[in-house]
Amino acid sequence: MTSAFPHLRLRRTRATGWSRALHREVEITPADLIWPLFVTEGTGVESPVSSLPGVSRWSVDRIVEQAKLAVAAGIPALALFPNTQAERLSEDGREALNPDNLMCRAIRAVKDACGDDIGLLTDVALDPYTSHGQDGLVDEEGYVVNDPTIEVLVGQSLNQANAGADIIAPSDMMDGRVAAIRSALEDAGHQNVQIMSYAAKYASAFYGPFREAVGSGGLLKGNKKTYQMDPGNAEEALREVELDLAEGADSVMVKPGLPYLDIALRVKQAFGVPVFAYQVSGEYAMIEAAVAAGAGDRDRMVLETLTAFKRAGCSGVLTYHALHAARLLGA
Ligand code: PBG
Repeated sequence: MTSAFPHLRLRRTRATGWSRALHREVEITPADLIWPLFVTEGTGVESPVSSLPGVSRWSVDRIVEQAKLAVAAGIPALALFPNTQAERLSEDGREALNPDNLMCRAIRAVKDACGDDIGLLTDVALDPYTSHGQDGLVDEEGYVVNDPTIEVLVGQSLNQANAGADIIAPSDMMDGRVAAIRSALEDAGHQNVQIMSYAAKYASAFYGPFREAVGSGGLLKGNKKTYQMDPGNAEEALREVELDLAEGADSVMVKPGLPYLDIALRVKQAFGVPVFAYQVSGEYAMIEAAVAAGAGDRDRMVLETLTAFKRAGCSGVLTYHALHAARLLGA
Protein backbone atom coordinates (compact mmCIF):
# COMPACT_ATOMS: atom_id res chain seq x y z
CA MET A 1 0.00 0.00 0.00
CA THR A 2 1.38 3.38 -0.95
CA SER A 3 1.08 6.38 1.33
CA ALA A 4 -1.21 9.18 0.31
CA PHE A 5 1.58 11.53 1.31
CA PRO A 6 5.12 11.98 0.09
CA HIS A 7 7.99 10.07 1.62
CA LEU A 8 10.27 12.86 0.63
CA ARG A 9 9.49 15.83 2.82
CA LEU A 10 11.89 18.73 2.52
CA ARG A 11 10.30 20.21 5.64
CA ARG A 12 11.69 17.34 7.74
CA THR A 13 15.19 18.85 8.02
CA ARG A 14 13.72 22.28 8.72
CA ALA A 15 11.68 21.21 11.72
CA THR A 16 14.16 22.09 14.46
CA GLY A 17 16.88 24.65 15.06
CA TRP A 18 19.62 22.03 15.43
CA SER A 19 18.63 20.43 12.16
CA ARG A 20 18.48 23.73 10.31
CA ALA A 21 21.96 24.53 11.62
CA LEU A 22 23.23 21.12 10.55
CA HIS A 23 21.87 21.44 7.02
CA ARG A 24 22.79 25.06 6.36
CA GLU A 25 24.83 25.27 3.15
CA VAL A 26 26.61 28.58 3.66
CA GLU A 27 27.03 30.93 6.55
CA ILE A 28 28.32 34.47 6.86
CA THR A 29 31.04 34.99 9.48
CA PRO A 30 32.94 38.09 10.64
CA ALA A 31 35.93 36.78 8.64
CA ASP A 32 33.94 37.39 5.43
CA LEU A 33 33.61 41.12 6.00
CA ILE A 34 35.55 44.11 4.72
CA TRP A 35 34.57 47.38 6.41
CA PRO A 36 34.73 50.60 4.33
CA LEU A 37 35.71 53.65 6.39
CA PHE A 38 35.92 57.34 5.48
CA VAL A 39 38.87 59.40 6.69
CA THR A 40 38.82 63.16 7.23
CA GLU A 41 41.29 65.81 8.44
CA GLY A 42 41.67 66.93 12.04
CA THR A 43 42.00 65.30 15.43
CA GLY A 44 39.22 63.77 17.47
CA VAL A 45 36.77 64.34 14.62
CA GLU A 46 33.63 62.35 13.90
CA SER A 47 31.65 63.88 11.06
CA PRO A 48 28.40 62.05 10.24
CA VAL A 49 27.48 61.40 6.60
CA SER A 50 23.89 62.62 6.34
CA SER A 51 22.83 60.23 3.57
CA LEU A 52 24.33 57.25 5.45
CA PRO A 53 22.75 57.24 8.91
CA GLY A 54 25.15 55.55 11.33
CA VAL A 55 28.22 56.13 9.12
CA SER A 56 30.77 58.85 9.84
CA ARG A 57 34.01 60.26 8.51
CA TRP A 58 36.73 59.91 11.13
CA SER A 59 40.00 61.75 11.63
CA VAL A 60 43.13 59.59 11.48
CA ASP A 61 43.36 59.11 15.26
CA ARG A 62 39.74 57.98 15.36
CA ILE A 63 40.20 55.68 12.37
CA VAL A 64 42.77 53.85 14.47
CA GLU A 65 40.11 53.39 17.16
CA GLN A 66 37.71 52.03 14.55
CA ALA A 67 40.38 49.65 13.29
CA LYS A 68 40.85 48.30 16.81
CA LEU A 69 37.09 47.77 17.13
CA ALA A 70 37.18 45.88 13.85
CA VAL A 71 40.04 43.66 15.03
CA ALA A 72 38.16 42.92 18.26
CA ALA A 73 35.06 41.98 16.25
CA GLY A 74 37.01 39.59 14.01
CA ILE A 75 36.87 41.68 10.83
CA PRO A 76 39.93 40.86 8.69
CA ALA A 77 40.18 43.97 6.52
CA LEU A 78 39.23 47.63 6.14
CA ALA A 79 38.72 49.64 2.97
CA LEU A 80 39.82 53.26 3.41
CA PHE A 81 38.48 56.29 1.53
CA PRO A 82 39.61 59.88 2.00
CA ASN A 83 37.46 62.98 2.27
CA THR A 84 40.08 65.29 0.78
CA GLN A 85 40.05 68.98 1.75
CA ALA A 86 38.53 71.09 -1.04
CA GLU A 87 41.69 73.19 -1.45
CA ARG A 88 43.69 70.04 -2.26
CA LEU A 89 41.44 69.02 -5.16
CA SER A 90 42.78 69.71 -8.64
CA GLU A 91 42.06 69.05 -12.30
CA ASP A 92 44.71 66.29 -12.39
CA GLY A 93 44.16 64.88 -8.89
CA ARG A 94 47.85 65.20 -8.05
CA GLU A 95 47.13 64.96 -4.31
CA ALA A 96 46.75 61.21 -4.94
CA LEU A 97 50.54 61.12 -5.37
CA ASN A 98 51.40 63.04 -2.20
CA PRO A 99 53.13 60.62 0.22
CA ASP A 100 51.69 62.60 3.13
CA ASN A 101 48.12 62.78 1.88
CA LEU A 102 45.26 61.88 4.19
CA MET A 103 45.10 58.31 2.87
CA CYS A 104 48.79 57.62 3.46
CA ARG A 105 48.67 59.09 6.95
CA ALA A 106 45.66 56.90 7.76
CA ILE A 107 47.34 53.80 6.32
CA ARG A 108 50.51 54.37 8.35
CA ALA A 109 48.58 55.09 11.55
CA VAL A 110 46.46 51.93 11.29
CA LYS A 111 49.43 49.77 10.35
CA ASP A 112 51.51 51.21 13.22
CA ALA A 113 48.71 50.44 15.68
CA CYS A 114 47.42 47.12 14.36
CA GLY A 115 50.13 45.64 12.13
CA ASP A 116 48.98 42.47 10.45
CA ASP A 117 46.02 42.09 12.81
CA ILE A 118 44.07 43.76 10.02
CA GLY A 119 44.48 44.12 6.25
CA LEU A 120 44.10 47.46 4.52
CA LEU A 121 42.45 47.70 1.14
CA THR A 122 42.97 51.01 -0.63
CA ASP A 123 40.89 52.31 -3.50
CA VAL A 124 42.74 53.40 -6.64
CA ALA A 125 40.87 56.05 -8.66
CA LEU A 126 41.23 59.79 -8.77
CA ASP A 127 37.70 60.87 -7.78
CA PRO A 128 38.56 61.76 -4.15
CA TYR A 129 41.24 64.12 -5.52
CA THR A 130 39.87 65.70 -8.71
CA SER A 131 38.03 69.01 -8.87
CA HIS A 132 35.64 67.50 -11.45
CA GLY A 133 34.84 64.30 -9.53
CA GLN A 134 35.81 61.94 -12.36
CA ASP A 135 37.98 58.89 -11.65
CA GLY A 136 40.67 59.90 -14.16
CA LEU A 137 42.19 62.70 -16.22
CA VAL A 138 39.78 64.47 -18.55
CA ASP A 139 40.33 66.03 -21.97
CA GLU A 140 38.74 69.28 -23.24
CA GLU A 141 35.44 67.49 -23.87
CA GLY A 142 35.40 66.02 -20.38
CA TYR A 143 36.20 62.52 -21.68
CA VAL A 144 38.24 60.45 -19.24
CA VAL A 145 41.43 59.54 -21.11
CA ASN A 146 42.56 55.96 -20.52
CA ASP A 147 46.33 55.67 -20.92
CA PRO A 148 47.40 58.96 -19.32
CA THR A 149 45.11 58.13 -16.40
CA ILE A 150 46.84 54.78 -15.93
CA GLU A 151 50.17 56.53 -15.41
CA VAL A 152 48.70 58.48 -12.49
CA LEU A 153 46.96 55.40 -11.10
CA VAL A 154 50.28 53.55 -11.07
CA GLY A 155 51.78 56.40 -9.05
CA GLN A 156 48.78 56.38 -6.71
CA SER A 157 49.11 52.62 -6.20
CA LEU A 158 52.82 52.83 -5.39
CA ASN A 159 52.13 55.70 -3.01
CA GLN A 160 49.59 53.58 -1.15
CA ALA A 161 51.77 50.45 -1.16
CA ASN A 162 54.75 52.44 0.14
CA ALA A 163 52.58 53.69 3.00
CA GLY A 164 51.71 50.09 3.91
CA ALA A 165 48.55 49.16 1.99
CA ASP A 166 48.00 45.40 1.75
CA ILE A 167 45.47 45.24 -1.08
CA ILE A 168 45.43 47.69 -3.96
CA ALA A 169 41.90 47.95 -5.31
CA PRO A 170 41.63 49.79 -8.64
CA SER A 171 38.06 51.06 -8.92
CA ASP A 172 38.59 53.28 -11.95
CA MET A 173 37.66 50.84 -14.77
CA MET A 174 40.43 52.01 -17.14
CA ASP A 175 41.54 49.32 -19.62
CA GLY A 176 44.91 47.80 -18.80
CA ARG A 177 45.47 49.30 -15.38
CA VAL A 178 45.87 46.01 -13.52
CA ALA A 179 48.86 44.95 -15.64
CA ALA A 180 50.49 48.35 -15.26
CA ILE A 181 49.97 48.43 -11.50
CA ARG A 182 51.17 44.83 -11.09
CA SER A 183 54.38 45.52 -13.01
CA ALA A 184 55.08 48.63 -10.97
CA LEU A 185 54.45 46.81 -7.68
CA GLU A 186 56.81 43.99 -8.70
CA ASP A 187 59.51 46.43 -9.76
CA ALA A 188 59.21 48.29 -6.46
CA GLY A 189 59.58 45.12 -4.38
CA HIS A 190 55.92 44.92 -3.37
CA GLN A 191 55.54 41.29 -4.48
CA ASN A 192 53.12 40.45 -1.67
CA VAL A 193 50.89 43.46 -2.09
CA GLN A 194 47.67 42.08 -3.55
CA ILE A 195 45.43 43.49 -6.26
CA MET A 196 41.68 43.16 -5.86
CA SER A 197 40.31 44.72 -9.01
CA TYR A 198 36.90 46.26 -9.20
CA ALA A 199 36.53 44.17 -12.35
CA ALA A 200 32.80 44.39 -12.91
CA LYS A 201 31.89 47.82 -11.70
CA TYR A 202 28.65 49.23 -13.02
CA ALA A 203 27.60 52.83 -13.70
CA SER A 204 25.15 52.67 -10.84
CA ALA A 205 22.58 54.95 -9.23
CA PHE A 206 23.54 53.44 -5.86
CA TYR A 207 26.81 55.36 -5.29
CA GLY A 208 25.22 58.69 -4.28
CA PRO A 209 25.85 58.59 -0.51
CA PHE A 210 29.48 57.52 -1.06
CA ARG A 211 30.06 60.54 -3.24
CA GLU A 212 28.65 62.75 -0.49
CA ALA A 213 30.99 61.04 2.02
CA VAL A 214 34.18 61.67 0.01
CA GLY A 215 32.94 65.05 -1.20
CA SER A 216 33.01 64.32 -4.93
CA GLY A 217 29.25 64.21 -5.52
CA GLY A 218 28.53 67.92 -5.85
CA LEU A 219 31.52 68.35 -8.15
CA LEU A 220 30.76 65.58 -10.62
CA LYS A 221 29.78 66.86 -14.04
CA GLY A 222 27.97 64.33 -16.16
CA ASN A 223 28.30 60.66 -15.31
CA LYS A 224 30.80 57.77 -15.42
CA LYS A 225 29.16 55.77 -18.21
CA THR A 226 32.15 55.93 -20.57
CA TYR A 227 34.15 53.73 -18.22
CA GLN A 228 31.83 52.04 -15.72
CA MET A 229 29.69 49.22 -17.11
CA ASP A 230 26.15 49.32 -18.43
CA PRO A 231 23.72 47.65 -15.99
CA GLY A 232 22.30 45.58 -18.85
CA ASN A 233 25.53 43.69 -19.47
CA ALA A 234 26.64 40.34 -18.07
CA GLU A 235 28.77 38.78 -20.82
CA GLU A 236 30.90 41.91 -20.77
CA ALA A 237 31.44 41.48 -17.03
CA LEU A 238 32.96 38.07 -17.71
CA ARG A 239 35.31 39.64 -20.26
CA GLU A 240 36.31 42.33 -17.75
CA VAL A 241 37.07 39.67 -15.14
CA GLU A 242 39.00 37.52 -17.62
CA LEU A 243 41.20 40.46 -18.58
CA ASP A 244 41.90 41.57 -15.02
CA LEU A 245 42.84 38.02 -14.03
CA ALA A 246 45.14 37.71 -17.04
CA GLU A 247 46.74 41.02 -16.05
CA GLY A 248 47.51 39.74 -12.56
CA ALA A 249 44.54 40.45 -10.28
CA ASP A 250 44.54 38.19 -7.20
CA SER A 251 40.82 38.60 -6.65
CA VAL A 252 37.96 40.40 -8.33
CA MET A 253 35.08 42.49 -7.17
CA VAL A 254 31.53 42.89 -8.41
CA LYS A 255 29.88 46.18 -7.59
CA PRO A 256 27.16 47.06 -6.58
CA GLY A 257 26.13 43.98 -4.64
CA LEU A 258 22.56 42.77 -4.36
CA PRO A 259 21.33 43.94 -7.79
CA TYR A 260 24.29 42.09 -9.34
CA LEU A 261 24.27 38.74 -7.51
CA ASP A 262 23.83 37.01 -10.86
CA ILE A 263 27.13 38.51 -11.98
CA ALA A 264 28.93 37.36 -8.83
CA LEU A 265 27.63 33.82 -9.30
CA ARG A 266 28.53 33.71 -12.99
CA VAL A 267 32.03 35.02 -12.31
CA LYS A 268 32.54 32.41 -9.60
CA GLN A 269 31.26 29.62 -11.83
CA ALA A 270 33.27 30.71 -14.85
CA PHE A 271 36.63 31.36 -13.16
CA GLY A 272 36.62 29.78 -9.69
CA VAL A 273 38.65 32.68 -8.30
CA PRO A 274 38.05 34.68 -5.12
CA VAL A 275 35.08 36.97 -5.82
CA PHE A 276 34.07 39.83 -3.55
CA ALA A 277 30.94 41.94 -3.68
CA TYR A 278 30.58 45.55 -2.62
CA GLN A 279 27.26 46.20 -0.94
CA VAL A 280 27.46 49.88 -1.79
CA SER A 281 26.36 53.03 -0.03
CA GLY A 282 22.95 53.23 -1.70
CA GLU A 283 22.22 49.66 -0.66
CA TYR A 284 23.14 50.46 2.94
CA ALA A 285 20.92 53.56 2.75
CA MET A 286 18.04 51.47 1.38
CA ILE A 287 18.17 49.10 4.35
CA GLU A 288 18.40 51.97 6.81
CA ALA A 289 15.47 53.74 5.13
CA ALA A 290 13.43 50.56 5.32
CA VAL A 291 14.24 50.21 9.02
CA ALA A 292 13.35 53.86 9.64
CA ALA A 293 10.03 53.32 7.85
CA GLY A 294 9.26 50.37 10.09
CA ALA A 295 9.44 48.02 7.12
CA GLY A 296 11.67 45.40 8.68
CA ASP A 297 14.16 44.29 11.29
CA ARG A 298 17.65 45.67 10.70
CA ASP A 299 19.61 42.77 12.12
CA ARG A 300 17.73 40.17 10.13
CA MET A 301 17.83 42.16 6.89
CA VAL A 302 21.55 42.78 7.25
CA LEU A 303 22.42 39.15 7.94
CA GLU A 304 20.08 37.87 5.23
CA THR A 305 21.62 40.09 2.57
CA LEU A 306 25.15 39.17 3.65
CA THR A 307 24.28 35.47 3.58
CA ALA A 308 22.98 35.93 0.03
CA PHE A 309 26.45 37.02 -1.09
CA LYS A 310 27.99 33.86 0.34
CA ARG A 311 25.32 31.76 -1.34
CA ALA A 312 26.14 33.45 -4.67
CA GLY A 313 29.73 32.28 -4.33
CA CYS A 314 31.41 35.34 -2.84
CA SER A 315 34.44 34.94 -0.60
CA GLY A 316 33.52 38.12 1.19
CA VAL A 317 31.58 41.37 1.19
CA LEU A 318 32.45 45.02 1.57
CA THR A 319 29.67 46.47 3.67
CA TYR A 320 29.08 49.55 5.81
CA HIS A 321 27.21 47.22 8.16
CA ALA A 322 30.38 45.21 8.80
CA LEU A 323 30.99 46.13 12.44
CA HIS A 324 27.34 45.73 13.35
CA ALA A 325 27.12 42.40 11.52
CA ALA A 326 30.37 41.08 13.00
CA ARG A 327 29.15 41.90 16.49
CA LEU A 328 25.83 40.18 15.80
CA LEU A 329 27.67 37.11 14.60
CA GLY A 330 30.15 37.10 17.46
CA ALA A 331 33.90 36.98 16.87
C1 PBG B 1 35.52 55.49 -6.58
C2 PBG B 1 34.53 54.64 -5.87
C3 PBG B 1 33.14 54.79 -5.80
C4 PBG B 1 32.70 53.83 -4.91
C5 PBG B 1 33.80 53.10 -4.48
N1 PBG B 1 34.93 53.61 -5.11
C6 PBG B 1 32.23 55.79 -6.40
C7 PBG B 1 32.11 55.93 -7.85
O1 PBG B 1 32.60 55.11 -8.62
O2 PBG B 1 31.52 56.92 -8.24
C8 PBG B 1 31.27 53.65 -4.47
C9 PBG B 1 31.07 52.93 -3.18
C10 PBG B 1 29.74 53.09 -2.57
O3 PBG B 1 28.79 53.67 -3.14
O4 PBG B 1 29.60 52.65 -1.42
N2 PBG B 1 35.75 55.25 -7.89
